[in-house]
Amino acid sequence: MPQEPYILKSENDAHRLEYLAGIYDQYTKQILRATAVCPGWNCLEAGAGTGTIAHWLARTVAPAGSTTATDINPMLSDDTGYTVIRHNLEVDPLPESRYDLVHCRAVLEHLHDPRTALSSLTHAAKPHGWLVVAVHDLSAPAIRCTVRRSDPAAAAVLESFLQASSRAMQSAGASPAYGGILLSEFIANGFPDVTVESRTFRFPGGTQSLYAQSLKQLEDRLTADQLVTRKETQRAYEMFIDETRQFSTPVLVTARARRES
Ligand SMILES: C[S@@+](CC[C@H](N)C(=O)[O-])C[C@H]1O[C@@H](n2cnc3c(N)ncnc32)[C@H](O)[C@@H]1O
Repeated sequence: MPQEPYILKSENDAHRLEYLAGIYDQYTKQILRATAVCPGWNCLEAGAGTGTIAHWLARTVAPAGSTTATDINPMLSDDTGYTVIRHNLEVDPLPESRYDLVHCRAVLEHLHDPRTALSSLTHAAKPHGWLVVAVHDLSAPAIRCTVRRSDPAAAAVLESFLQASSRAMQSAGASPAYGGILLSEFIANGFPDVTVESRTFRFPGGTQSLYAQSLKQLEDRLTADQLVTRKETQRAYEMFIDETRQFSTPVLVTARARRES
């Protein structure tokens, strides 16, 4: 197994993850509210990134509840009402039957073995506890739909960037299409009753936008692997920073289910 399937790891990843959280947090909170998360719950936020959801969970379950945020590369401090643990979901164990809610967003697609990680997240939930997992599916055909209709030039550039990113993830050992089988993976983990939603989210171009930042992080790898040319990355960057253009995220598949006893 390659050492680092998470190809976006970099010192600047915090800015990109803040942008990502800005796109998804409202939706994620809506889904978590549907699990009826409330004061007193013990929650796990796995692969917490910048910790925006861990922070929200900590406030929601206070004062009697607790929240633990894990990440392979924690960018968080402990002083925000939740506990932070450096933890590799692919290797390190999680406590069994500990949490009322286990949440993990946009992490499993970056792993070599998401199936084992999903099993460990499942077992970390208490009997009758909730497992909520969101995973991108970079192979989903609806991926660029909102941009395609109105801006075919940007859609074509985005298409080739996302395909190249997906191939780079794959060759690093990650699982860019895992979102596409998330439902069957939940069922295989013993959740007969799963709620699944697939969504894309629109955002404008800009130098700080998701794709502009992702491209800056990936361009050397993509060109070295001959997945795109330097000229193509330049053209893509010009599109991605254009504030008059609209882009959509890759499809985010969210599954939520309750553990049986
Ligand atoms: C795309 S970010 C998502 C962050 C956050 N969950 C969010 O949605 O805002 C992926 C996160 O997974 C973490 N990560 C990558 N590989 C991991 C692993 N093997 N174990 C735990 N965390 C991992 C990264 O450090 C990063 O914080």
